[in-house]
Amino acid sequence: MNKPFLAAAVLALTAPFIAGTASAQFFAKAEDAIKYRQGAFQMIKAHFSALQPVIKGQVPYDKARVAAEVSVLDVISTLPWAAFGPGTEGGGALEVVWSDTNGFKAAQDKFLASLKPLTAAAQEGDLNKLRAAFVNTGASCKACHDNFRK
Ligand code: HEC
Repeated sequence: MNKPFLAAAVLALTAPFIAGTASAQFFAKAEDAIKYRQGAFQMIKAHFSALQPVIKGQVPYDKARVAAEVSVLDVISTLPWAAFGPGTEGGGALEVVWSDTNGFKAAQDKFLASLKPLTAAAQEGDLNKLRAAFVNTGASCKACHDNFRK
């Protein structure tokens, strides 16, 4: 990807947020929003699952690696939500995402809040705390999926 293209892409991605434009206008088509959020969830899954062998004690605990993994997770966990704007119904999401926007927002907030103790444990390098926080975050993924995902 060349630099001018990248700069244009970054501008295109951030400008609607800066302008506070509704997220539906951010994507040309509903399918684009669906693909985007599914891609974001796949990344979240990859980086969350990467912690599993550490949690299970299958690999030695590498504090720096875990902290780096969790900081990536902190960033990508903010990505899917803007792609659930009005008019982007479908994919693996249930209709209730759009009819119970408060409930869906609460489930996002719970998930994002669960990353705080995970981040703290990763920075501290405490495996027991990390394990407890990991389980808690996993439960918040599942809680949202149970209610909002097909
Ligand atoms: C606030 C709700 C919510 C939370 C929290 C959440 N998800 Fe999801 N997730 C969804 C919804 C809704 C979909 C369906 C998206 C679609 O297909 O349009 C989904 C889809 C997915 C998918 C399938 C993507 C695809 O390719 O179709 C994966 C994998 C996934 N989530 C993993 C996770 C993981 C791992 C976590 C926690 C670390 C998590 N999710 C947290 C709501 C959530």
